[in-house]
This record gives sequence, structure tokens and C-alpha cells, in this order.
Amino acid sequence: MNTTKIHISMRYQAPVFIISIFSMVVTLRAQTTNPSLPHLVHKDGRHALIVDGEPFLILGAQCNNSSAWPAILPKVWSAMEVLHVNTLEIPVYWEQFEPQPGTYDYHIVDTIITQARRHGLRLVLLWFATWKNGSNHYMPQWMKLQPEKYPNITGRDGRQIDSPSPHSQATLEADIKAFSAFMRHLKEYDRQHTVIMVQVENEPGSWGTVRDYSPRAQKIFDSPVPAEALSAANISPESNRNWTEVFDRDADEFFQVWHVATYIGKVAAAGKAIYPIPLYVNGSIRDPLKPGWPPAYEVGGPNDNVFGLWKAAASAVDILSPDIYINDTEAYLKVLELYSRMDNPLFVPETTGFGAFTRFFYAALGYGAIGYAPFGMDDIRIFYGQDGNPLSPEERYEATALNYRLFRPMAGQIAQLNFDGRIQTAVQLAVDPDAEPGNPVDQENYVTDQSLHFDGWDADIAFGTFYRMARSPSQPETPDGRILIAELNKGQYLLAGYHCRVMFCPTGKNEGQPWEYLIVEEGRYAEGVFKADRILNGDQTDWGLNFSEPAVLRVSVYLR
Ligand code: DGJ
Repeated sequence: MNTTKIHISMRYQAPVFIISIFSMVVTLRAQTTNPSLPHLVHKDGRHALIVDGEPFLILGAQCNNSSAWPAILPKVWSAMEVLHVNTLEIPVYWEQFEPQPGTYDYHIVDTIITQARRHGLRLVLLWFATWKNGSNHYMPQWMKLQPEKYPNITGRDGRQIDSPSPHSQATLEADIKAFSAFMRHLKEYDRQHTVIMVQVENEPGSWGTVRDYSPRAQKIFDSPVPAEALSAANISPESNRNWTEVFDRDADEFFQVWHVATYIGKVAAAGKAIYPIPLYVNGSIRDPLKPGWPPAYEVGGPNDNVFGLWKAAASAVDILSPDIYINDTEAYLKVLELYSRMDNPLFVPETTGFGAFTRFFYAALGYGAIGYAPFGMDDIRIFYGQDGNPLSPEERYEATALNYRLFRPMAGQIAQLNFDGRIQTAVQLAVDPDAEPGNPVDQENYVTDQSLHFDGWDADIAFGTFYRMARSPSQPETPDGRILIAELNKGQYLLAGYHCRVMFCPTGKNEGQPWEYLIVEEGRYAEGVFKADRILNGDQTDWGLNFSEPAVLRVSVYLR
């Protein structure tokens, strides 16, 4: 690898670059002129959410559970403004929506939609119904007061568990009816597609027991496994065996998953038949690296080991999504990998939106995410900074806002580039305790933490803050470095990042060849078009591309 960088000053050579960017913009427009319902498209194992005929990247945030009330909404909107989101995820409560059997109250949904439009936001509505975090707490009172008709499940020891039974036909029918009324109303009321996706239930499944052990459920458990479940598990459909005989140690877990997924699949299918916008289910996920055994994790939801069962039982559900609260970098990245699949677009509907966690937004984009949304981002309590003074909302939400400020004006471009397979990202894995701040300046052996590989060029990335070639004396305390690089054409890139430095170098047959920047533009997108604020050169490029502050660059490199 040639690391010697002797930079000559270049004449301004923008036209070539501008032409190629222009042709990209034209391509984007040409591909996206068919307005229709929000929907998902798939190409070569990649996915895009199409909204109003164009690729749409959800820069989202979810409000707190009890914030979807007109009295609270003003605070939600002001928090969303501070965050620079383009989409709010907000619940619809079954208990509020159907106060009496068959009587539906649409006024809160309508208020949310109307006010979201006024704030220039899209919505993802969360159907808090049979399951909310594994419990039935959002069922209407008239259901809660009839536990025989709408039962909870029974644990192995006969204890009542605070979790609705997936085997209750009456509950299923009530949910289907209510969800259908909700989707029918959306179809009528939301002609301009403010609502772009709907989450069906919330973190479904059970805590504290692997499955329902009631006599009724036991009877089903002792019966032959349905042919569809066998085929989802790649087991010969002839076998007339029960769950234990087929699945042995996994039997209880797979039984619960199959029935929860089948139930939700039916609710989703009923809603989709009325109004076919994308539907997803979110899971309280198990640790992907050290999962342990249930009931150490919630059972029934879309965990990584039961994708096949979920996809087969709930085909009306478009996306199985992870809620990621895992506080370990390797595990977090593993979740992103596991949920971005040929048959499953990656969408992160809940995660942590503070501190170094926010760099995982970039990691998600590297796995082709169609959207990302930290949870509980309308918290109106007073928070105090380290100096004991109250934090302003701007300070409190800055970690997420610094991502979204950068990405919101170019969200459509990023979605398209991702769909075209042009984006790669890297995030800092850890703060290097041995990193030597300050001099000596070393151009020959600059530090590389990670490399991204493009056609004929590598991008070598070092995380942290830098002055020229050296690390700055003070480094961020948490590993919050992040970079996204989109290859626009060979040797032409769009970069967005924070707390890192990027060095390009030629690879393959040109490894070691002298090279140069043709142009480095720093700027921002406005209404989808890149506007350069300045051309970087001299000290701002001679030592690599330094993202001490969040920035968007367009860079063109060439061999001298
Ligand atoms: C995950 C759930 O899906 C959310 O609704 C919320 O309860 C958070 N956990 C925790 O606050």
C-alpha cells in the first residue's frame, strides 16, 4: 500500500465530476416517477421503501408509550423538530381505539396524521393490541374484564402468566376486526400517504414461560405438527409426529413462535387485504452471540433462530425487525447482519438514541437499512448534564440530531444508493487505549483502524480526532467514530462522517501508484441536490480527509 501523500495544488476540475453527478441525479429521477402506495421493492437481495414513487430512508424516532394523546403531542412535535427526523413512530392504542366492542374512535389517529402533515413528517403507526411487550395491557377494558373469553397463558407450573394466549380464537377475531377497521380508516383518511408503514403488535411473545401449558394448548402441542411448520423447518411433511417428537429440545419454543406468528400473520393479512402498505413486526431480541435458552429471552417474537417459522406463518408481514438495546458493539453489529437478509429488509424500529450508540445508525446503513429509529425520544423530564445544569432539548438530543441533520436533506439519495449497492460504512469498535496523541507526524505509516474496499481504491479509516497526521491530544471518551462512503462512480465518492479520518489509496494493479484528489467538495444537500460550500485543498486534504465535525464531502480521486 502506498501511503506517501505529496499533494500538489490542482486546477479546479469540477465539470467531469458535475456531469457524472448530474447523470446520477437524472437516473434517480427516471427510476422514481411512479407514485403509488408506500411499498417495498427488492433487487439482488437489496431492498428499498418507496414512498410517493421515490426511495425513502426512514430517519425516525419513536415517542414514549404514553405520548400519543392530543395533550402530549405538542411536546412530541417539538422534540421531533430538534431531532431532525423525517418520520415519527407513534402508537395506536387498542384500548382507546375500540372503547366498546365494535365502536371505533378515530379521532386520535386523525389528529396525529393531521398534525404530522403540518410538521412535514411521515408516520409509522404502531398497533398496540393483543401484545405489547408480551402482555395484554393495551387490550380494551371490556376484554380484560372477560379473561375466560380472552385468556392469558398458563405457565408450566400452572401459574397465570401476564401474556395473552395465541390459541384464543376470540382474541384473534377481536384483533382482526379492530385492525381491519383501523386499516380501512387509514385507507380512507390518509390519501396522501402520511402513514408509510404499520407495526403489527409490539414485541409479541411471552416472558417468564416458554409457551402456554394450559390443557387446551397442551392438546395442540401433543398433536401432529402442521405441514407448513414442518416445511418451514425443512422437515419432511409426511411425518405425523407431535412437537416434542419433531423438535425435541426446541419444541416448546418453536410451538409458541409458530402460534404467535400464525396469529399475527392472520391479523396482518386481514389489514393488508384492505390497505396494502408495508407491515412489520418488532422483536425483543435474544442476544445473537450468547442467546442462552428460553425463557431467558422473550419467546414468540421474531428471533434470529426462528426466521423460517415466522416467514412461513406470517407471509403478510413484510419485515421482521429487531429492537436493539444491546450494549455490546460486536453483538449489536451481529444483530444488524442477522436481520438484513435476501428475504428481509433491515429496519431498526427501536434502539438507543444517545451517545456513541448513535454511530450504529451508520452501521445499519452499511447493512442496507431502510430505516432507523431510536426509542423514547420525546422525553420531557428535565435531564441534567455533568456540570449539574439542566440540559436543553438540543443538548439532550444532539447525538441523534447530528446524524439526522446531515442525512435528512439527502435521505432519498442514500436510499437509492443503498438500493443500488453502492454504500459501505464503518463504525469505531473501541477507543484504542494505546493511541498516542500528538506528534510524531508519520505520513508513511498512518494508522488504519478499518478499510473499505471499492473498485480500484481502498478507503483507510482511522477513528478519533486528528490534527494533520497525528491524533489530537484529546480523544472522544467513547468510540463514536462513523463513516459512510458511497461509490458514485469509479474513483468518485460521497462521504458522510464524524470523528474519523479517511485516506484513499489505489489498489489492485495500481497499488503503490501516485495519486491525487481531482476535487474534494464540502457541502450539503438542499432539496436533494448537492451544493458545495467550498472546495477543500491544501492542509484540509494533504493529511487525509478529517471529519472532526460531522460533514458531507464529494470526492474525486485519480492516478497521477
Ligand atoms: C421496548 C418496547 O417495544 C417499547 O414499547 C418500550 O416499552 C421499551 N422497550 C422500553 O421503554
